[in-house]
Amino acid sequence: MVDLSVRIGSLTMRNPVTTGSGTFGFGSEVADLIDLNKIGAVCVKATTTHPRTGNPAPRIVETAGGMLNAIGLQNGGIENYLSEKLPYLRGFDCPIIVNVPGEDPEDFAYVVERLTEAKGADAIELNISCPNVSHGLDYATDPKATAEVVARCRRATTLPLLAKLSPNVTDIRPIAQAAEDAGADGLSLINTVIGTAIDARTRRFKLANVTGGLSGPSIKPIALLHVHRAASAVKIPIIGMGGIMSATDAIEFLLAGATAVAAGTANFINPGVALEIAAGIESYLRANDFTDVSQIIGAVR
Ligand SMILES: Cc1cc2nc3c(=O)[nH]c(=O)nc-3n(C[C@H](O)[C@H](O)[C@H](O)COP(=O)(O)O)c2cc1C
Repeated sequence: MVDLSVRIGSLTMRNPVTTGSGTFGFGSEVADLIDLNKIGAVCVKATTTHPRTGNPAPRIVETAGGMLNAIGLQNGGIENYLSEKLPYLRGFDCPIIVNVPGEDPEDFAYVVERLTEAKGADAIELNISCPNVSHGLDYATDPKATAEVVARCRRATTLPLLAKLSPNVTDIRPIAQAAEDAGADGLSLINTVIGTAIDARTRRFKLANVTGGLSGPSIKPIALLHVHRAASAVKIPIIGMGGIMSATDAIEFLLAGATAVAAGTANFINPGVALEIAAGIESYLRANDFTDVSQIIGAVR
């Protein structure tokens, strides 16, 4: 037997694979394509205090080895999530991680409190790193601002609290430490890498928002380095993500120090990829005579 289960604070995942927020909807969009009862956890789309329409189109562009998105946190708001999305997802035996952005610490804390009192999440991921809204990167590029949001939300909930960090920094270590010191139970990284795309034919930017967040295989080396560095700086567990397309990619993140991983952009090609990755990790452990996934976490030499 191979033990694939991992813990993020008080959250137990049956296997170390979840989904990148914004790439798996609220579960219902993909439930006929993947057995949600077998997934490590579902991380749902960003959920804000009020409904948001997001940025104007075009807001997705394909790039070499990835994609740029500038969705801008489109969602129906916390009350819509609790009444419309949550009941469906609770019909499955899978932990739910809710991604929460905010305008300021109070706004973050409001959604965190609503989720806590309504039992709307099994863990909360603070999205302090969205590059596609104004001031979206203010928090995760500054240790003090990171600490302020995490500390405020820590007071608002007893649920496992993750801080989702940005790759758009020179050194992620002080930010990871600030989140840990402020009471985060774990970190998620990376969010997307800020970028743009230009159409030579029309001489226009391809995204109406001009900038977008780069994701997919092209960002994996960046993500791996940030995960490795963050893991060396903190004791709390990390959910690693950024360009994970296969079990081998995921194993590399575990070796770099991630306790769990998320498949993001890969879901657009194969919505069943999270389960395939979990099965691939199990095969790798078996083939290499490991009995527990914890044996490979941070084991890179
Ligand atoms: C279309 C799209 C929407 C996204 N929406 C969110 C979001 O709402 N909140 C968030 O924290 N991250 C969001 N992300 C970032 C992903 O969760 C993930 O951190 C990132 O894409 C890197 O992983 P990947 O390369 O596997 O996609 C989004 C990514 C994409 C491609």
